[in-house]
Amino acid sequence: MPMIVEGIITSRDAGGHVNFAPMGVEWGEERLVLKPFLETTTFRNLTANRTAVFNLVDDVLLFAQAAIGSPQFPWHPAERVAGAVLEAACSWRELEVEAIDATPPRSRIDARIVHRGRGREFIGFNRARHAVLEAAILATRVHMLPAAQIREELGRLEILVEKTAGPREREAWALLTDYVAARPASSADRA
Ligand SMILES: Cc1cc2nc3c(=O)[nH]c(=O)nc-3n(C[C@H](O)[C@H](O)[C@H](O)COP(=O)(O)O)c2cc1C
Repeated sequence: MPMIVEGIITSRDAGGHVNFAPMGVEWGEERLVLKPFLETTTFRNLTANRTAVFNLVDDVLLFAQAAIGSPQFPWHPAERVAGAVLEAACSWRELEVEAIDATPPRSRIDARIVHRGRGREFIGFNRARHAVLEAAILATRVHMLPAAQIREELGRLEILVEKTAGPREREAWALLTDYVAARPASSADRA
C-alpha cells in the first residue's frame, strides 16, 4: 500500500478559473495517483484539461477553508503546465494526467510529475494541525456520518487543539466546528 500524503490540488476549468481542493494522493517520486470523487470539480477539471498542481501546505487554515467552501487563494502560474501554484505552498509537483479510471464512486487518476518547485520552508505538522485536518475531513462527510459520531470525534480532537494550536489552527478549528454545528441531520441519522 503506498503512503497517502494530504495536500491541496489546484486545477483549472476551460475558462482558466482556478479550483482549490484538499485531497490525499498516493505518493511517489515520479508519479502521483489522485483519487477525486466523480462529483468533484477537481475530477471534472482534470478530465477536461489533464493537468494539475499538487501543493504541499503546512497552513491548515487553507485546508479548512477549501474543505467547506470554494475560496480563492493567491496563486502564480506553474512553470511546466498550464496550472496554478498556491502562494502558500512550501513545495509543489506539477502534474500531467496519463490515465483516468472513472469507476464510481471515486476515480483513480494516474499523473506524471513533470516539474517540482519549492517555496518557503515546511514548518511541519503538530497535534493541533493533525486535529484540524481530521476535522476538515469530518466536515466534508457530515452528510454521510451520524451526528453523534462526529461530535464524539471532534470532542477527542479538541483536546489536541487546546494543547498545541496557534492562532491559524484556532481559527480553522472554529470555522470547522461552526460549520458542522450548523448542518442539518445526515442521511445516517434519518435511516
Ligand atoms: C485532508 C482531506 C483529504 C481529502 N481527500 C479527498 C480525496 O482524496 N478525494 C476526494 O474526492 N475528496 C477528498 N477530500 C474532500 C474534498 O476536499 C471535498 O469534497 C472538496 O469539496 C472537493 O472539492 P472540489 O469539488 O472543489 O474538487 C478530502 C478532504 C480533506 C480535508
